[in-house]
Amino acid sequence: MQYSVYILVDSLIEIFSRFEPRNRDSVSMSLVDYMEKVKHSDDELEVFINKWNTFAEDILSYPYLFYFVFRWIVDEEQEIFDVLKNYYFRQEILDPQEDLASKNLIASILDIENTNSVIWQTLDYLKYSQVKSQKPFFYLSIYLSFKDLLYGHLIDPKLRPLHHQVFSLLHQQSVNWLPNYCNGYAYQGSHEIGITGVKPTEARMASYEIDAYLTSDKTVLDIGSNNGLIAVYLSRRCKDVDAIEYNPYLNLFGKVVAEYLGVSNIQFICADFYCYKPDKKYDLILSMANHSTIDGKLKVNFDEYMHKIFITLNQGGLFLFESHNIFGPGKGGTGDDGDLDYKLDIAAKYFEVIKYKMTQKFVPEEDVDKLMILFRRRKSIVPNALRTISKQEVIKKYN
Ligand SMILES: C[S@@+](CC[C@H](N)C(=O)[O-])C[C@H]1O[C@@H](n2cnc3c(N)ncnc32)[C@H](O)[C@@H]1O
Repeated sequence: MQYSVYILVDSLIEIFSRFEPRNRDSVSMSLVDYMEKVKHSDDELEVFINKWNTFAEDILSYPYLFYFVFRWIVDEEQEIFDVLKNYYFRQEILDPQEDLASKNLIASILDIENTNSVIWQTLDYLKYSQVKSQKPFFYLSIYLSFKDLLYGHLIDPKLRPLHHQVFSLLHQQSVNWLPNYCNGYAYQGSHEIGITGVKPTEARMASYEIDAYLTSDKTVLDIGSNNGLIAVYLSRRCKDVDAIEYNPYLNLFGKVVAEYLGVSNIQFICADFYCYKPDKKYDLILSMANHSTIDGKLKVNFDEYMHKIFITLNQGGLFLFESHNIFGPGKGGTGDDGDLDYKLDIAAKYFEVIKYKMTQKFVPEEDVDKLMILFRRRKSIVPNALRTISKQEVIKKYN
C-alpha cells in the first residue's frame, strides 16, 4: 500500500476528531469510528480506497460539490472553478489541446501522491485553520460540507442522491441569495440525513426539553423555518406543520428532505412573514431567533410581532421563543436582545411563562448561548401584566 494512503487515513482521523467528539455530533463520531477500523484492517483499507476514489470523482464531477469542499480556493482562484465548470458543461471536445490541459488540471487537484496538490492543501486547511474566520462561518462551512459528503460516501451511500439535491440548492442559494446564513451551508442539521448543520436539530430540540409538549393533536407554525429540519422533527410528533420561509432555496431544501423521508404533513410556505396572513390558528408557534433576523430582512416592532403571534394562536396555545444575544448592549442592533426585560414586559401582555432555559451554543467561536422560553397564550390581552422573569434572574440561574 502506498505511504500516502496511510497519511490520508491519519489526516482524516485528525480532521474528524478536531472538535472533541461531542455527543451531539454523531456524524463525526461515526466517521472517526470508521476511519479507526480502516486504519487497523487491510481489507477495510481496500474498501476505503475505492470509496475515496468515488468521492473524489463525485466532487470533481459536480461543480456545486466542488464549490463547497474547495470553497477556500474557489474564492481565491476562480479560474480553477471556471475550468471545471466549463469542462463539465461542454458536451463534446472542441479543442483537444485545451481539453487535455483541463483534464490534467482536474486530475492534479486530487492527486494524493503530490503533497502540493489542492487536496493536500485542503486537508491541511481543514486540520489547522481557525474556526473563527474573518468571514463568519467560512471555515465551518467547508469543514462541515467535507464531512457530510464523506459521510454519504463512507458510511451511508444511500444518502448520496439527497446530498446532491441539497448541496445543489445550497450552491444556488450562495450565488443568488445574499446575504445568507452560515456562508451558504446548512443552518439546521440532522443525523438522519447525514447533514451536520451548524445547529444539529435533534440535540437542539433535546436541549429545549419540549418533547412532552409535542403531541399528535397539535397544529404547528414554524416562523422562518430555514432549511426545514426542525419542521421535519415537529412533523414526526405533531399533527401537521406549516413552515414559513421566504428563501426559496431553503424551502426547497426542506421539501426534498421531507419527500426523501416520506413525511407528508408539512406545508412549506414560501412567503415573507411581513405579508403573511394565516388563514387558520395554531396550537403551537415557534419563533426561533426570528423576531428580528441577522440577515436584516425581518425587523419588526416587537409588540406587533407578539400581537401577531397572539392572534394566530388558539386559546391556550403554546409559543416557543428563542432569543438572540441577551448579553448584548440592548441598543436595538441586529441580534441584540440585551433589552430582554423590555421585551419580556411586552410578551407578558399576551403570554404566561411556562418555563425557560438558557441553551448552549453549538459553535462556541461563532455563536452565543440563547434563552429559550415556552409561553402559553393568555385568554385575552392583559395590558398591565407584569413580567414574571427577568434578565437578571435568567443570567443568575445560567451562571
Ligand atoms: C436566524 S434564522 C433562524 C432559522 C430558524 N428559525 C432556526 O432557528 O433554526 C432566520 C430565518 O428567517 C428567515 N427570514 C428572514 N426574514 C424573513 C421574512 N421576512 N419572512 C420569512 N422568513 C424570513 C431567514 O431566511 C432565515 O431562514
